[in-house]
Amino acid sequence: MGQTKDFFKEKKPWSIFKDRILDYYLVPYISKILRTGKPLVIFDCFAGKGKFDDGENGSPVIIAEHIRAAIQKQPFVNGFFIEKKYSEDLKSNLKNYPNTNILAGAFEDNLKNILSMDRNNNVFLYVDPYGIKSLNLNNFHQIKNNNFFTLELLMNFNSAGFLREGCRLLKFEDLFKDDEITDYESDEDINTIEKMDAIAGGAYWQEILKNYYSGTIDIHRAEEQFIGKYKEKIKEVFRYTVNIPIKIRSSHLPKYRLFFGSNHEDGLILMADNMNRKWKEMLAKERNKQGVLFEFEFPDLTLLKGFDIYQDILASLPSTGGKVSLKKVIVNLIMKYGITFSEKEYKQKIKEMENTALYIDRNPTLTPKTKKPATSMNYDDYQISLRKKI
Ligand SMILES: C[S@@+](CC[C@H](N)C(=O)[O-])C[C@H]1O[C@@H](n2cnc3c(N)ncnc32)[C@H](O)[C@@H]1O
Repeated sequence: MGQTKDFFKEKKPWSIFKDRILDYYLVPYISKILRTGKPLVIFDCFAGKGKFDDGENGSPVIIAEHIRAAIQKQPFVNGFFIEKKYSEDLKSNLKNYPNTNILAGAFEDNLKNILSMDRNNNVFLYVDPYGIKSLNLNNFHQIKNNNFFTLELLMNFNSAGFLREGCRLLKFEDLFKDDEITDYESDEDINTIEKMDAIAGGAYWQEILKNYYSGTIDIHRAEEQFIGKYKEKIKEVFRYTVNIPIKIRSSHLPKYRLFFGSNHEDGLILMADNMNRKWKEMLAKERNKQGVLFEFEFPDLTLLKGFDIYQDILASLPSTGGKVSLKKVIVNLIMKYGITFSEKEYKQKIKEMENTALYIDRNPTLTPKTKKPATSMNYDDYQISLRKKI
């Protein structure tokens, strides 16, 4: 098992990777969210030291850099950094950054500080704990119930760590022997089944692990089933969610799952589109380097069983021939396929089916300048329906 005491000694490839994701996403997110004209508060809920001992920036410095750039345009952008153990290091590493505030102590104890924020704020939560111990789902429900102007989440969820701890508690010992499975950072073990239920939002994980223990399903299937259920629970907090499996090889269990949640469909589209392009760019850059630092697989979900984009486009439309907006179809596809495709590619897939399986009602039907029939895939009021009733 990874040692948490050495976590900040040097920044490991997969930490570099997740921080890059955060760094990339904050650019379009901040630019878009500031157009709401409302203030923005970013919470780094498990912040760490700010910098790694080898000088690499951690998430707090990355966030603080974005805040510094953003306040040139809009002064009401603030960062709050919650850290239980390293708040002194964090203070020193953030001392030159404006609009940054350190909240020493546990996330659970600082929840009241999040809840006391003005509802008029846009709120972004970055949740990057060592393990899963502090991820009581009820905390997120409380934040949701505060009804902030907008609420978004980026969270690293160690699903295999959860299952391993579940096996230990249910006394299904000796199952997690494989190095690939046990190589996870984790803080002290969670010690009650009730706490695990609170994290998972139910007891369903126990049944899944029983099936794993009895040999009915393997660990990969158990992890998928667990995430399938957990996803439903997260959806009670965030209407629109995506989870991205972070794997080194497709045969491995995900090292962790990156969960994105938003209460706005535009947030979901923005995230999936940007992440698709940036992820590919990142991998291409790494491949061109000598001595590849890391090679996380691109999460192409079409490689999995049960993922057929054309079938899923058809399935997202009413069999009665009723219409659904283009945006809604894309949002539904993203919730299943995540960042497998860019927004343009999702639209292209739909357009390919236009003359065979689908109607696209474009409004206006003619282009404003040339008065020719519109063929673009801009949203406006476009509606999609099936050509034949099925
Ligand atoms: C994975 S590290 C965060 C790394 C950070 N995102 C970065 O990029 O540098 C998790 C951090 O959470 C802190 N921590 C552990 N339990 C916590 C809790 N209950 N509340 C707040 N912080 C906690 C640990 O001390 C550690 O610094």
